[in-house]
Amino acid sequence: MKETMTAAYLPGNSTVEMRTVPVPVPGHGEVLLRVKASTICGSDIRCIYREHLGKGPEGYQGVIAGHEPCGRIVAAGEGCRRFKTGDRVIVYHISGCGVCNDCRRGYMISCTSAQYRRAYGWQRDGGMAEYMIAEEKDLIALPDELSFADGAQVACGFGTVYEGLEKIGINGNHAVLITGLGPVGLAAGALCRKLGATKIIGIDVVPERMKIAIDLGLCDSVLPSGPNNVAQVRELTGGFGVERAVDCSAHDLARATAIRATRKWGKIVFIGEGGKVEINPSPDMIHDQKTLYGSWVTSTWLMEELVERLVRWNLHPADIVTHRFPLEQASDAYALMASGKCGKVAVCADEELTGTGNLAR
Ligand SMILES: NC(=O)c1ccc[n+]([C@@H]2O[C@H](COP(=O)([O-])OP(=O)(O)OC[C@H]3O[C@@H](n4cnc5c(N)ncnc54)[C@H](O)[C@@H]3O)[C@@H](O)[C@H]2O)c1
Ligand SMILES: [Zn+2]
Ligand SMILES: [Zn+2]
Repeated sequence: MKETMTAAYLPGNSTVEMRTVPVPVPGHGEVLLRVKASTICGSDIRCIYREHLGKGPEGYQGVIAGHEPCGRIVAAGEGCRRFKTGDRVIVYHISGCGVCNDCRRGYMISCTSAQYRRAYGWQRDGGMAEYMIAEEKDLIALPDELSFADGAQVACGFGTVYEGLEKIGINGNHAVLITGLGPVGLAAGALCRKLGATKIIGIDVVPERMKIAIDLGLCDSVLPSGPNNVAQVRELTGGFGVERAVDCSAHDLARATAIRATRKWGKIVFIGEGGKVEINPSPDMIHDQKTLYGSWVTSTWLMEELVERLVRWNLHPADIVTHRFPLEQASDAYALMASGKCGKVAVCADEELTGTGNLAR
């Protein structure tokens, strides 16, 4: 085993700092992973890369970046009960105390312990490194049918979306509007398809993202964001609007569109984080009997079920990865993700680096 490794840090001025640090040793109940894929999230760009904006759960504490890791266990500490050396695993990206009410529900994302809740890549070392330490209780088994790049997107991206979609319920009765076609919005398109949605409409401002949504068959129609979006969505849905809407943009206008373009009795879920929204509750929601949900990440048990279903559906999250970089080029990877001219961007190692993503297939 090597003694030192390369790791990426985000100083908060749109640069990436590579450092050589000791390879950590797993303690009790912990494992050491060889990181095979580590994907970049919109939250990394918004709260850490450009500027250290986050507070509380989004406060970056100068640790190794990357909260979407997936890899193979190369050493297991004392006391591990399920996972062992050689296992392929996904890391649930927030390590909670394990004993508060939220942790007991599997939602370590909302762990209430100020002392023990630490998210990988935010308050404890994450996956933008050759190796990382993870707690065994945060691990989800990665089935052989899924690649490491598939696995990297299960926790934050696909898991988050699956949770939101389970809240509003998606099936073949539904036309769905997705505002924001970043990796999270693209994941929403992919999952809505498998859940049976019959018409999927996407809205974004970046032409490259709209093109990816169409090229990968994740949306049936895409609209550039604009003042006529509500009328355009109604036109595409027989004058009624969609039964379900998912905001993955966090943009105030797009959020209002998601609510207003939803038809009577419809359901909307907000996933995009930060920002504001202005609506007129009576005409926009109350008189049309609509329900609005907020959804924050997912639970470990739902993530496990999602992994099982991805295999059953033959759905590969890595299909929305458009670019892969080796760790040494992490700086280019973050810069590309910050430009928005891409699907999901992954930093990969070993066998995972040579996968080229669906677009190049
Ligand atoms: N709720 C959660 O648990 C959770 C988990 C992960 C990510 N997130 C959030 O979800 C959002 C999406 O994540 P991502 O990684 O795809 O980020 P992203 O920044 O890549 O995607 C946001 C997309 O919204 C688009 N957009 C901007 N203005 C728009 C407008 N007016 N109309 C339509 N689209 C518009 C952008 O062009 C971009 O493609 C982010 O806000 C992220 O922080 C939430
Ligand atoms: Zn993320
Ligand atoms: Zn807890």
